[in-house]
Amino acid sequence: MEAVIVSHSLATPDIAVIDLAPADAAEFPAYTAGAHVDVRLDSGLVRQYSLCGPPESGRYRLAVLNEPASRGGSRAMHALKVGDQLLISAPRNRFPLVTARRHVLLAGGIGITPLLAMVRQLETEGGDWVLHYCARSRAHAAFVPELAGEPRVIFHFDDGSPGQMLDIARDLGDPQPHTAVYVCGPAGFIDHVLGKAEALGWPPEALHKERFGNAAPDEGAGASGGFTVRLASTGAEYEVPDGRSVLDVLLENGVDAPYSCQQGICGECVVRLLAGEPDHRDDVLTDDEHAEGMFTTCASRAHSPVLELDL
Ligand code: FES
Repeated sequence: MEAVIVSHSLATPDIAVIDLAPADAAEFPAYTAGAHVDVRLDSGLVRQYSLCGPPESGRYRLAVLNEPASRGGSRAMHALKVGDQLLISAPRNRFPLVTARRHVLLAGGIGITPLLAMVRQLETEGGDWVLHYCARSRAHAAFVPELAGEPRVIFHFDDGSPGQMLDIARDLGDPQPHTAVYVCGPAGFIDHVLGKAEALGWPPEALHKERFGNAAPDEGAGASGGFTVRLASTGAEYEVPDGRSVLDVLLENGVDAPYSCQQGICGECVVRLLAGEPDHRDDVLTDDEHAEGMFTTCASRAHSPVLELDL
């Protein structure tokens, strides 16, 4: 879809809040909390951003952290101005609210974006929720004015007193029935929260996550060695060496394989695995989806010499 930037401002020194409207008379499709859109930049980069604005506004609101270590996506988004146009996808949701009596939301930094949409949806639906929002400091936290004063929002700032820092044992506590936990933020934050939650006994099915950032699939992860990928439709076989992804090899050989983020976080490249032992390295599929044979070609590799894909 063609979108035009109707507002572009800084929520913090390094987080831009960008409002998009349809470039033509059409309306944007509706979305649910947790959804994201792909944004295609002039450089050809495609990036995923969660939608965090009030859905009833008819606009899409994105919040973009300017990451010095990024491959240019966040810098390009910060350089845009009102009136510029972008190509975006329709919203997709791989991080939806689930049916639960209580919802515990844990945001790390820019990970607030999908959780802010969840808070709004839960408010509309009368859900029972609490949000723990961690950031380097109040000045580095976006959307503080919208959230301050709400007793169900608990801020944790790295430069604050030790007693207000996030403590999973205290702030999440022991597993509770009918409770869903949602975690979004940088990989280190998510790993910390999930590790502590699992140690407390929270079952995997209660824990929902969405990773942010440019954590490309671990280059060192190629240490499992090369392997062969076979396409079920043609029987063609391709060698996937260390340091190259299955997706890279497929595209280089002219295979029309779907993809978007190439970081193991969007799910666009998922194909069905028909044979072989996978080495899953994505951050998007659940254990159940892995068990059902879903496989990300951009991130995952093989423990067996051959993988056969439903392509
Ligand atoms: S392209 Fe996004 S998960 Fe593979």
